[in-house]
Amino acid sequence: MRIALTGAWGQLGTALDAALCAEHTIIPLDRDQIELGSPATVERIVASGADLVIHPAAYTNVDGCARDPGLAYQVNALGTKYVALACRRLGVPLVYISTNEVFAGDAAQPYAEYDATGPVNAYGRSKLAGEVVVRELLERFYIVRIAWLFGGEQNFVRTVLRLAANPPEAGLRMVADEVGSPTYSVDVAAAVRQLIATEHYGTYHVVNTGAASRYHFARVILDQAGYTALPLQPIRLADYQRASTPPPYTPLANYAGAALGITLRPWEEALAAYLKAIGDSR
Ligand SMILES: NC(=O)c1ccc[n+]([C@@H]2O[C@H](COP(=O)([O-])OP(=O)(O)OC[C@H]3O[C@@H](n4cnc5c(N)ncnc54)[C@H](OP(=O)(O)O)[C@@H]3O)[C@@H](O)[C@H]2O)c1
Repeated sequence: MRIALTGAWGQLGTALDAALCAEHTIIPLDRDQIELGSPATVERIVASGADLVIHPAAYTNVDGCARDPGLAYQVNALGTKYVALACRRLGVPLVYISTNEVFAGDAAQPYAEYDATGPVNAYGRSKLAGEVVVRELLERFYIVRIAWLFGGEQNFVRTVLRLAANPPEAGLRMVADEVGSPTYSVDVAAAVRQLIATEHYGTYHVVNTGAASRYHFARVILDQAGYTALPLQPIRLADYQRASTPPPYTPLANYAGAALGITLRPWEEALAAYLKAIGDSR
């Protein structure tokens, strides 16, 4: 297939390109080719003549989205509308990458694919609007929700490793009452490769198995990277000031993918693979 890939050099885009390029022809559409905030995006994608479009590009800075919700909406909601309109014109399916932050985070157990959404911040609202527009405009789509992604140069794992190498005087502190599904970009990309061959369109939760608080995730990162003796203090979400309000509890349950045989390994194993890949496992 000819696959048009937005955000091709972002964290997930890079992993998708690597996972798909042996089997498919990838048409990378980065900022040089498309600006999601502009309706001209429709023509640009139509001109690619793709058989499938994968759309991970987004304004992903959650605090930036909180400060400028209008920009978040333009890029993540209207930008996704332009991508969906292009798919409609081409008559091809779309893979839209969405997020755990479409949920409110007040559930008692992991969210299933068709649980009610209820975003609590501007980023989540803009990404949910992207889902709405995909469902509104297309018959053939995969909405792939992912969470707490690591795999590129800038992510939670890298932040923890940076802090461990040069710990602040006050010591390391991590939020213990924000819980999610840590997920490796390489594993998401492999799952998307499987999913697009199924033609089982719909909504999916593509996350590594298991869940963790930021505190627990950080502890495992430190231990796996050899910083076993480095102390780590738990703090509360309420004590960590930031522009965006994260939903506190958003582990995602993968029912729809699992029914097709698409499951991801436990996040601890995926983390070990990532640390090995970046050479920080000791
Ligand atoms: N990271 C996470 O923890 C996480 C969790 C849940 C869901 N997700 C979703 O997963 C997807 C991929 O995330 P990621 O971490 O790989 O993101 P990323 O590394 O920030 O990459 C985003 C990509 O989108 C491009 N982009 C941003 N604004 C654009 C615009 N206005 N027009 C055109 N392209 C634009 C970026 O280009 P530039 O580099 O040129 O800006 C970059 O290539 C996103 O849809 C995100 O919402 C991520």
